[in-house]
Amino acid sequence: MPTINEVTTLEVKDGVAILTLNSPPVNALSANVREGLNDGVSNAINDSSVQSIVIICEGRTFIAGADITEFGQAPKGPSLYEVQDMIENSPKPVIAAIHGTALGGGLEVALTCHYRIAVPSAKCGLPEVNLGLLPGAGGTQRLPRIVGAQKALVMMTSGEHVPANQCFDMGLVDELAAEGELEHDAVAFANKIVSEGRPLVKVRDASDKIQGDKGNEALFSDFRKSILRKTRGFLAPEYNIQCVEAAVNLPFEEGLKVEQELFMKLMTGSQSAAQRYIFFAQRQVAKIPDIEKETPLKEINSVGVIGAGTMGGGISMNFANVGIPVTIIEQSQERLDKGLSIIRKNYENTAAKGRISSEQVEERMALINGQTSIEELSTQDLIIEAVFENMDLKKDIFKQLDGICKEGAILASNTSALDVNEIAAETNRPEDVIGLHFFSPANVMKLLEIVRGDQTSKTVVASSLAVAKKIQKIAAVVGVCPGFVGNRILAQRQREANKLILEGALPWDIDDALFDFGFPMGPFAMSDLAGLDIGWNKDNSNGETLRDVLCEAGRLGQKSGKGFYVYDENRNKSPDLEVEALIRKFGEERQVQMRDISKEEILQRCLYPMINEGFKILEEGMAIRASDIDIVWTNGYGWPVYEGGPMFYGNLVGYDKVLEWLKNAEKELGPEFKPSPYLERVVAEKINIL
Ligand code: 3HC
Ligand code: NAI
Repeated sequence: MPTINEVTTLEVKDGVAILTLNSPPVNALSANVREGLNDGVSNAINDSSVQSIVIICEGRTFIAGADITEFGQAPKGPSLYEVQDMIENSPKPVIAAIHGTALGGGLEVALTCHYRIAVPSAKCGLPEVNLGLLPGAGGTQRLPRIVGAQKALVMMTSGEHVPANQCFDMGLVDELAAEGELEHDAVAFANKIVSEGRPLVKVRDASDKIQGDKGNEALFSDFRKSILRKTRGFLAPEYNIQCVEAAVNLPFEEGLKVEQELFMKLMTGSQSAAQRYIFFAQRQVAKIPDIEKETPLKEINSVGVIGAGTMGGGISMNFANVGIPVTIIEQSQERLDKGLSIIRKNYENTAAKGRISSEQVEERMALINGQTSIEELSTQDLIIEAVFENMDLKKDIFKQLDGICKEGAILASNTSALDVNEIAAETNRPEDVIGLHFFSPANVMKLLEIVRGDQTSKTVVASSLAVAKKIQKIAAVVGVCPGFVGNRILAQRQREANKLILEGALPWDIDDALFDFGFPMGPFAMSDLAGLDIGWNKDNSNGETLRDVLCEAGRLGQKSGKGFYVYDENRNKSPDLEVEALIRKFGEERQVQMRDISKEEILQRCLYPMINEGFKILEEGMAIRASDIDIVWTNGYGWPVYEGGPMFYGNLVGYDKVLEWLKNAEKELGPEFKPSPYLERVVAEKINIL
């Protein structure tokens, strides 16, 4: 087959030039792929035996977008615009033949083709928004022209991958091929276009779908309102909307200029840098340096969960959702019934929102088998303990499990802070013991910390990663230390937030600063939500901490209508003068000097110790890489993705500045700010840890 370059071939069959790209893993538009497309189309145009051209890909997918690894590098070879011009202006019809995913630049290339054919399993989308970008190769101007402004707004601001049949219905795809027959059907479609003398359709010239929305400002203002809550803080969704507005209201070429200008703003800004970093971090986190790809995996076809409380219930749902049967053990029938009824209610709520059917509710409930005897856990492949956070209780349970569970079963604890090695030592099979730390609500939160004990086998780690993927969690492998990675870093922020309210910052000042930074909620609103009385005992309470004072005053959080804040009947919070007075009194009694504290200082005090703790975690080997820490914080604790996570953010601020600040804070405020020696080394030796 004639080769165009190392990733492209061109073959002529029945007058149809088949231009095939083969650039694993995802046929991204690298310089090679652009060159292959450019030269391939050019050759086909110049070949008199060719009447039409099909662009098709080998491997798992059609072109999945621009090559993100090339961003920021000096451009090489033909630009994407040149390639698109060549395709769009071809005097012979060009057809994109799509399987897998036509995403970003890939769909933008397909949109310059005159026709598109796809297999039913294919998906199309413009997911640039998830990288903090907008489609920068004409996609913002062509998509609205082919599917209309409203649909383009949805696709571009959500980044969703739209199934081929829906693309067909909205006119984005012209023809559906039979599954597995793409090349054959694409050639037939190309021949039909030629024989019927169909026109060379240029999407850029279409106007019927956008005509009616010219000057329709309400369309855009309503849309902005509808996505406000989800997109708070992100720049890219708004810029995507502005591009669609330009597509509707301006001639194509002028719209393209708007697209280019806004694309460059996003591309050179820190938000997109953070979001692109997180894209790769998310793929990196599953790679464990000392665990080879070939590591044998244990099959997980059945699961046992101990404890049907807050966590056990949510954990069980994850497995039932993917068809894995779960046996859930409680200490009494009453607690079991309560736990199971909460699970049912959760499923019914999801069904009421139309996300699953009522049959699915029953199917999933049928997969959850409640029992009150731990002896029932003799056959399951994976056991997850989720009883109260009490070391003696957990040790006792693992001792029992050692005697009950089948050989080779994985024995996991959902402990949030206890020593997994100590728990493992209760068994005669510590190599099978691991921490699987889910986050609440466990059926919703994406993050899973996989806590690797000193003796946990590679097979058990690899199998845990595989099962995490199966239940659609993003898993980070962490080491055994108090609080692991996530809660250990959280403790730093909590400590400083608690201190700050005794130095003069009010709870809402701190919450507002962190909310404005991009967290969904500040620590005091969070405490009110969880309940201030968790772990508080009325009989031992002696007004020693501010929490004692608030709980003694009946301020238990949202559930009692007041905590750090006061709540109305719709649970909307407001600052409360009574709390301010309680705090001031508490401070005065302890002769604490109150002062004005700026938002900037609040952020430094809360965030810089977290970065420092991240360095300590890396130094101790409790996280494999800095980006794993950022995955934990962006997926489990609401750190805004556009700020990249604590380690990325530290770099953005400048690790040298963070270090200097910590040194001063250590002098002025105390030893808890002592910089990590690893941070000092990274700054001194300018080591790149990201
Ligand atoms: N550029 C470079 N590498 C890419 C890439 C891209 N656009 N998309 C995926 N990769 C790499 C991944 O990093 C990964 O590498 P690794 O194996 O070394 O870790 C490998 O391809 C496989 O990726 P996944 O593990 O994600 O594979 P999946 O099969 O699960 O998913 C996918 C495939 C749906 C294509 C997914 O990779 C994806 O969503 N990719 C990004 C798509 C995207 O955002 N495209 C828009 C890019 S920006 C753009 O086009 C700008 C334009 O408008 C000018
Ligand atoms: P919970 O109190 O809601 O549930 C614990 C359940 O375990 C109770 O229903 C209890 O009856 C049951 N139980 C106790 N002893 C038992 C036994 N011997 N046999 C069977 N069942 C028994 O507690 P929650 O919040 O679900 O926490 C469970 C574990 O998960 C703890 O280790 C906790 O630290 C951890 N965790 C909790 C998170 C949270 O946000 N609640 C987050 C992540 C981890």
